[in-house]
Amino acid sequence: MFRGLAERSVRLAALVVRDDDSRPPALTAGGRSHPALRLATVAGHGVWRYDFALPLGTVSDYGLAGRTHRVDTRYEGDLHVGFVSCNGEENGDLDRDADERNAMWQRLRAQHATRPLHVLLHGGDQVYADEATDGHRLSDGWPDELPETAAPADLDDLRLHLRERFLHRYAITYAAPGFAELAAEVPSLMMWDDHDICDGWGSLGDVERTAIGQTLFRTAREAFLLYQHAATDDDVPDLFLDPEGLSLGFRRDLPGLTILAPDLRSERTRARIMGPNGWDRFDAALADLQERVFLVSSVPLLGPRLSLVERLMQLTRRMERYEDDLRDQWQSRAHRAEWARMLRRLIDVEARGHRVTAISGEIHLATRATLDTGRPEPLHQLVASGISHRAPPRLYAMTLGTLARFGEAPIPEHPIRIAPLPGQRHNYTAERNYLTLARKRGTWSARWDLEDSGTTGWLSI
Ligand SMILES: [Fe+2]
Repeated sequence: MFRGLAERSVRLAALVVRDDDSRPPALTAGGRSHPALRLATVAGHGVWRYDFALPLGTVSDYGLAGRTHRVDTRYEGDLHVGFVSCNGEENGDLDRDADERNAMWQRLRAQHATRPLHVLLHGGDQVYADEATDGHRLSDGWPDELPETAAPADLDDLRLHLRERFLHRYAITYAAPGFAELAAEVPSLMMWDDHDICDGWGSLGDVERTAIGQTLFRTAREAFLLYQHAATDDDVPDLFLDPEGLSLGFRRDLPGLTILAPDLRSERTRARIMGPNGWDRFDAALADLQERVFLVSSVPLLGPRLSLVERLMQLTRRMERYEDDLRDQWQSRAHRAEWARMLRRLIDVEARGHRVTAISGEIHLATRATLDTGRPEPLHQLVASGISHRAPPRLYAMTLGTLARFGEAPIPEHPIRIAPLPGQRHNYTAERNYLTLARKRGTWSARWDLEDSGTTGWLSI
């Protein structure tokens, strides 16, 4: 995990999960030995963290359990940042054929071997935890059919069940070929989306406020802190913008680059995307930005006019499920004022001379969009999804592409336009993919690697 820069070093954390409760060996870095700190014990497995630092501006290494891992810390000058999202599927993900499931991870790993990544951003759905609620009496029917009451002892039992299921899923997902090697060599930053909790968390309404819903959220949050940030509640003030931890948005800075990732899940309700904590801290984090800002928005910030579809869907009760999916988007009619607020913030940041790039996943398609900020160059939205989630049918992508032609302008003088990837004819590309963002001689560009079509040309951003 990438923690931050000190004067001559980069602070990192490494996470280790043991088969049993025994203490792992020390990690060696920079001629020093770093003992492990126990974060938790989950179902008999020790979860441990190493805090260490590597010198800046070189290719360095650290050693653990007889293996050496290289880390490229040359953050000045040319820089390569990877972006992935949607690492799994709702059903049967742990039983998929490993070669098929991890094909794009293997490709990213091969790319990293020839052109090292400096940071890897994981933009949501790092695991698909949907099946974690299966197999327990209280949560088997989640979210539609729950028991009327739940005794405290049964809720404790549910918590243990979920803790074990989350650990199991993260452990298998992180050990997958491609992911494992990249995780050891490329400092990661992760922001969750709904499936790291459950499908549609935040847009499901009353069921989220039941004791069962709250047990699910608290367990998923503990897992997010442990496995996506190598952290516990004690670390929240150091790692996240909101010291209370009601919102888990974060900011990290590299030379010339600010990575800003608001938490679009912790405070979400059907009526809002972020709450007071999330918004206050996000606004405060917009000071002293680096020249380039990556805004990691787990759901796409710029997209087509979904409010049209939403209106149609309200005509029929059978479409309720899809309505929840749409409610999850910035473009939902319910979130329009909040969406405009976020766009205005970014337009302000650009007006102060910074360049903003919005990066998102979530939709299992690759696409891009632009926002006219009134400056010569537009603000780019890059969407890359998923790294292992398979793409929906091409017809679905074509339908979205048609919808995109309606255009959208939540702020009338700042229109949004959806556009095809470089070299593609249609607005949405239905292939698995990941994104690489590169700074070469001070200029940023981005390209997608598409499973069938290969790498796109570089898009200047
Ligand atoms: Fe997803």
